[in-house]
Amino acid sequence: MPFLALESLTKRFGDQVAVDALDLAVEPGEFVSLLGPSGCGKTTTLQMIAGFIEPTSGAITLEGRDLLGMQPNQRGLGIVFQSYALFPHMTAAENVAFGLEMRRVAKAERDQRVAQTLELVGLGALADRYPRRMSGGQQQRVALARALVIRPRILLLDEPLSNLDAKLREEMQIELRQIQRTVGTTTILVTHDQAEAMALSDRIVVMNKGKVEQIGRPHEAYEKPASAFVAGFLGKTNVLPGAVHHDTGAAIAMIGDGRWPVPDMTDAQVSISVRPEKIDFIDAAACSIGGTVRTRIFQGNHWLYQVDTPCGLVTVIRQNSGQAVPAEGAAVRLTWRTEDMAIHPAAATAS
Ligand SMILES: Nc1ncnc2c1ncn2[C@@H]1O[C@H](COP(=O)(O)OP(=O)(O)O)[C@@H](O)[C@H]1O
Ligand SMILES: [Mg+2]
Repeated sequence: MPFLALESLTKRFGDQVAVDALDLAVEPGEFVSLLGPSGCGKTTTLQMIAGFIEPTSGAITLEGRDLLGMQPNQRGLGIVFQSYALFPHMTAAENVAFGLEMRRVAKAERDQRVAQTLELVGLGALADRYPRRMSGGQQQRVALARALVIRPRILLLDEPLSNLDAKLREEMQIELRQIQRTVGTTTILVTHDQAEAMALSDRIVVMNKGKVEQIGRPHEAYEKPASAFVAGFLGKTNVLPGAVHHDTGAAIAMIGDGRWPVPDMTDAQVSISVRPEKIDFIDAAACSIGGTVRTRIFQGNHWLYQVDTPCGLVTVIRQNSGQAVPAEGAAVRLTWRTEDMAIHPAAATAS
């Protein structure tokens, strides 16, 4: 039995389907991200778990018990939103203590847990400070402490870092991950930032238009995207038009003037996704497409190329290993391993 289970969870607003028959099983202690573009149904899903939005249909269970009949405050969840929503007239410690007071935790234990949790989020020295005298990052730490201090069964985070500037956001990502690993609280994060989802999560749920496109470990979803949408949304990729054809019994992917033997699949027009860092220059003709280097940019640890090919402009990244590299205007051939390309039906291109 999974710890948290969403089964065929659906939410309609009028005739619009915001979340469409979503299935998800979360293990205890797991960090799972709901990732997808704006409007794909991430917040609606989280709000249904939290109890602020009632599903149109489907089930949510926690340790096998139905959550849907319970009020939000009975569910034992810790929640952090994008806006910090701290009480302005309370110090950091008082903000964190509030949830414990509501639960009638005795003062001695309360003080101890508040101090401990503020320490955990790196705010031990700022317990008596008011929110208005704190930075955005510090306020968001208070919000996190406030959610954690009640020892929630699940921590729900909705874009908690998106109001922070890029550098602070990266620092907070690392810290958030460490804190979550330390306390071991099962966590569900909503984000539209694929780098954030990959950095933090044990597993990512990639969503598109209310539906799950793929559930997998970050590395797995990046290397083996289940759809053209996932390939395009997780990191940078090249999408090339091609076709799969059978030639003397074997399946061949035909891409530009290149031919790759592929595992057996039906003949079809396809779209091929191959990551810039998986493409290499090669002299031989086998399994490669021809092109001309349009631009070459030095970026310190790597070279970034744009190569004109009959399949369109292809981005190539080569590590700066000190070896000779093709110049702008050079005729080149591009190759990659069969297992480094993801082949999807041509119709299902990323939007
Ligand atoms: N209260 C609401 N009434 C009507 N439509 C809503 C409401 N909340 C969300 N939606 C719609 O549902 C879809 C999913 O929204 P949301 O879950 O907020 O997306 P995300 O968090 O992924 O950006 C969007 O098209 C949004 O406009
Ligand atoms: Mg949202």
